[in-house]
Amino acid sequence: MTERLRVLCSLIERTESFIDVGCDHGYVVQYVYRKGLADTITACDISAPSLEKARRLIGAESGVRFVCADGAVAAAGHETVLVSGMGGEEICSVMAGCAPEWFILSPQSHVSRVRKALLQADYDIVFDRVAEDGKFYDILKAKRGGGRERLVSVSDLQLKYGIFCDRPDPVLAKRLKKMSAALDTYPKTEENVRKRQEITEVIKWQLR
Ligand SMILES: C[S@@+](CC[C@H](N)C(=O)[O-])C[C@H]1O[C@@H](n2cnc3c(N)ncnc32)[C@H](O)[C@@H]1O
Repeated sequence: MTERLRVLCSLIERTESFIDVGCDHGYVVQYVYRKGLADTITACDISAPSLEKARRLIGAESGVRFVCADGAVAAAGHETVLVSGMGGEEICSVMAGCAPEWFILSPQSHVSRVRKALLQADYDIVFDRVAEDGKFYDILKAKRGGGRERLVSVSDLQLKYGIFCDRPDPVLAKRLKKMSAALDTYPKTEENVRKRQEITEVIKWQLR
């Protein structure tokens, strides 16, 4: 299992009902099944060939529900909803269709939008780290309740770089240094200069 999937799996607690939206290969669902972490387990993918990969891996006799559907519809009613490897906009549309106790999310883009949507929907973000797995992946876990309260005090930089970006984290520091080095090679547009300043600020927090 890759580091990204390992971190995702480590965040899954015992739950009544679990759904992996966009399960594709099915490794996460297989982990939940083997560990007996949920009474009902749903593997969901909008693509029939992708879902078939999960079915072949886990087996139709496992009792896992294999659902070929849009997660925006299929996630409703589950206690734990995991969505990983999809764009942030897509993840927000899945989030809008359900109200689980737990979200475990790994957006590939628009992560700040996902953080804000979680807090606005009153989900508090309890885990927000970067996994390094060839590339850098944002991984979030949020629990229902307390999000709006946190939203009042959260900064723009926390929405962009991580709710806990003021706490030292070697992987985040490495990512930010790479981003900063890349920005140095880009044209000095107003936007790039602003972003470089932001990153320098967060790196300072990291090195405290
Ligand atoms: C890049 S794969 C990620 C697989 C796995 N979740 C992971 O993190 O390694 C994205 C999967 O999400 C599925 N997908 C995309 N949009 C979806 C949606 N709205 N509902 C359900 N599945 C979706 C795709 O068919 C694809 O299998």
